[in-house]
Amino acid sequence: MSSRRPRKPFDKYGLYERSVQRPDFDVDFINRTYTKEHARVPLVLREDFCGTAFISSEWVRSHPKRTALGLDLDPKPLAWGRKWNIEPLGDAAGRVTLLQKDVRSVFSPKADVTAAFNFSYCVFMTRPELVDYFRKARRGIKKGGAFMLDGYAGPDSLNPGTEVRNYAKFTYTWDQREMDAISGRAMRYIHFKMKGTREKMDKAFTYDWRIWTIPELVDALTEAGYARVEVYDEKKAGYRLVKKAPYKDAFIPILVAWT
Ligand SMILES: C[S@@+](CC[C@H](N)C(=O)[O-])C[C@H]1O[C@@H](n2cnc3c(N)ncnc32)[C@H](O)[C@@H]1O
Repeated sequence: MSSRRPRKPFDKYGLYERSVQRPDFDVDFINRTYTKEHARVPLVLREDFCGTAFISSEWVRSHPKRTALGLDLDPKPLAWGRKWNIEPLGDAAGRVTLLQKDVRSVFSPKADVTAAFNFSYCVFMTRPELVDYFRKARRGIKKGGAFMLDGYAGPDSLNPGTEVRNYAKFTYTWDQREMDAISGRAMRYIHFKMKGTREKMDKAFTYDWRIWTIPELVDALTEAGYARVEVYDEKKAGYRLVKKAPYKDAFIPILVAWT
């Protein structure tokens, strides 16, 4: 298997991957959580809202028998991901399928694990829509498999504000606007600024989201028919299964719903 990692461009998708995503962490979490439940490693991943399919590429790279299916509505990140994440995999590229489809319209092949990271389910604005998506996601997962999604919790997740992070070549800004208190709807933006130049990418990414709390997500997953819903909280030693979480201004638990 030939596999080389090219230097990805510093365009909006390249900057997003560098500042937002941690596919090695995601693959490790998926693997460890699944193998605690089963005496075998998970092989079939489905990456919902896959964007550039960064996790799918890391998934097939991590094991010679692993396959991945990535789904996204937007052809632009899919094309970018094919070029910069999938083609460089060499032979392993044949184990990744990317489809420009709505995540609610695909039910096979059935996955060991479906991952929907970076709060992408927040595009679903009402509880019936959210439960419908969770139910349809369940249909695409094997019996005993898992649906994994992250949640954004704590009061900071509800309030307007910005978080600026500095990288060697650019700054990343997460920009949260005021949430409408009736609908729970809020705009979020990602801005980038290249250092040492005047180049700015204001609103490189725009998200019109319904803000879902952790108890709402747990309830919706339960209503969607998952057998068991677990919450993993970030501790000093990594993510741990918890029943309760102490008050924190902001935290990003991972929910794992078993079919
Ligand atoms: C926040 S990005 C997530 C990118 C990547 N998965 C990550 O973890 O950072 C959300 C993605 O979801 C896609 N999307 C939104 N609604 C969708 C739907 N109903 N079906 C498939 N993709 C959808 C958008 O095109 C966008 O690429």
